[in-house]
Amino acid sequence: NAEGDPAIINKQEWNQYLGEGVDARPYGMPSQFESHVRRQDVPWLTADPVSSVNFTPLHELDGIITPNGLCFERHHAGIAEVDPAEHRLMINGLVDRPLVFTMEDLMRFPRENHVYFLECAANTGMEWAGAQLNGCQFTHGMIHNVMYTGVPLRLLLQEAGVKTTGKWIMPEGADASGMTRSIPIEKALDDCLVAFKMNGEALRPEQGYPVRLVVPGWEGNMWIKWLRRIEVGDQPWHHREETSKYTDLLADGQARRFTWEMDAKSVITSPSPQAPITQGPGPLVITGVAWSGRGTIPRVDVTIDGGITWQQARMSGPSLNKSMHRFYLDVEWDGKPMLLQSRAHDSTGYVQPTKEQLRHVRGENSIYHNNSIQTWAVNEKGEAENVEIS
Ligand code: MTE
Ligand code: CO
Repeated sequence: NAEGDPAIINKQEWNQYLGEGVDARPYGMPSQFESHVRRQDVPWLTADPVSSVNFTPLHELDGIITPNGLCFERHHAGIAEVDPAEHRLMINGLVDRPLVFTMEDLMRFPRENHVYFLECAANTGMEWAGAQLNGCQFTHGMIHNVMYTGVPLRLLLQEAGVKTTGKWIMPEGADASGMTRSIPIEKALDDCLVAFKMNGEALRPEQGYPVRLVVPGWEGNMWIKWLRRIEVGDQPWHHREETSKYTDLLADGQARRFTWEMDAKSVITSPSPQAPITQGPGPLVITGVAWSGRGTIPRVDVTIDGGITWQQARMSGPSLNKSMHRFYLDVEWDGKPMLLQSRAHDSTGYVQPTKEQLRHVRGENSIYHNNSIQTWAVNEKGEAENVEIS
């Protein structure tokens, strides 16, 4: 352009005037030009915002860590604003010594750091009967992946002394939802954490401040927020969240129960309906995320022609157990329509199923545990749409 690029030629305001000094932003926020990057809900999904969900803007993120302020929220009775000085964690039931911990007590136990994904069992639940929500934020955004700092639950249970008859635990939240789940003692003694930090800072109120249970690889509903009590028992409690909810209705009307592990899953986050191609044909970075509740993701395949041909994507970033993985496929886009899909392989050898394969086993009555392959149709303009192909 003979006139030259005004972005180079013109003096900008930020070239001429001093900016704000240190301390103008004592707890930093993103640039004002990033204000479109935000959690969002789907208004018709739930009747009331206090028992609702919003979604992580996966299409705006890169790498594997979800920033704290963008972690999706799922509350059954709103956000409890808990004063840590007034908060207690009780362990009772089939234990030698029932115990009550203050937050200070918890800080005296050895702690660990782990990056784990949390996926709500209902993630992608609206897509069982057909392509519905137009954007990976809405189809796949009930997931976040953060580094937790916390005390292994095992250490707290050992302190209380689990009786030989103690085979299950029931964590309970301090919010008004009466959130309780039954968890087998083997899992409780294995890798569960009583966490108080996420990505280095205190848990956000939305995520269960001051303390939440971390149940790696298992459905998000079990990750009790605002954790106030853990009862040890000899059998599961069969409470609301594991009977009328969080069970999987099969085609024959029978319900599968206790489907805790999150199966391997992936989604292309860009291009996607909320992240169209805007720069036209030429080099294109196709990217997305993959995860498995059973281990790591050594491989993701990507197709741009609806599954006729597949290419192995490039994994980039840490490959951690039960954590989100990032993949890329760098292509030359010819400007022709594409049918984009990704297919995750996890470290057990399991391969993410097509929608057809999943429906064959599960029917279409389910809400929970939909880990099928997602398709985006991209047109010549670079716009993407949620579709289903067979
Ligand atoms: N814990 C309590 N106490 N109350 C809740 O409403 N929601 C559960 C779980 N733990 C919930 C809870 C559900 S269904 C999910 S998916 C996760 O928390 C969501 O965690 P997040 O809000 O950090 O995304
Ligand atoms: Co949930």
